[in-house]
Amino acid sequence: MLDIGCGTGQTTRSAARRAYRGRAVGIDLFEPMLGRARHTAAAESVGNAEFELGDAQVHPFPSGGFDAAISRAGVMFFADSVAAFANIGRALRPGGRLAFVCHRDPSEEVEAVFAALAEYLPAPDSDVSTPGVVDLADPDRIRTVLGQAGFVETTATPRRS
Ligand SMILES: C[S@@+](CC[C@H](N)C(=O)[O-])C[C@H]1O[C@@H](n2cnc3c(N)ncnc32)[C@H](O)[C@@H]1O
Repeated sequence: MLDIGCGTGQTTRSAARRAYRGRAVGIDLFEPMLGRARHTAAAESVGNAEFELGDAQVHPFPSGGFDAAISRAGVMFFADSVAAFANIGRALRPGGRLAFVCHRDPSEEVEAVFAALAEYLPAPDSDVSTPGVVDLADPDRIRTVLGQAGFVETTATPRRS
């Protein structure tokens, strides 16, 4: 199992526990997060969780090396989403599956966070709705991108948390 943009590895550890006969690999751009992920996995005795530093857009994953890929909010920041998802698709075995969650209305969520912090932290001057965060907010865009990247049978299900 491959976890894209794993951050501190919570979902990687969760997947590793379920895939106890195999392994879960988390990849992220940010080494300090991976250090935390490795530390926590060791502390929780999750021995089949591994963490790699890399850019999922271009990382040389083993071809067909994973049964499944997941991501929790780690796939909206790609410069070229089609190329990035095609690279992730090559890492999956034939029939492998990709599942991810991403923000639907990030500006609303981010604004709520800054409103809660307003007493301590000024909101950024720039528009918080950066292109990266909203890149996959539209389900039609998700289906289009994944289709162009070679995925079939794509579904996008809007959820409210
Ligand atoms: C919003 S955080 C989510 C972290 C984690 N999935 C979680 O749910 O806690 C997004 C993560 O994606 C990572 N990321 C963004 N673009 C990436 C890329 N091209 N390759 C690998 N990781 C990436 C960031 O470094 C960051 O840790």
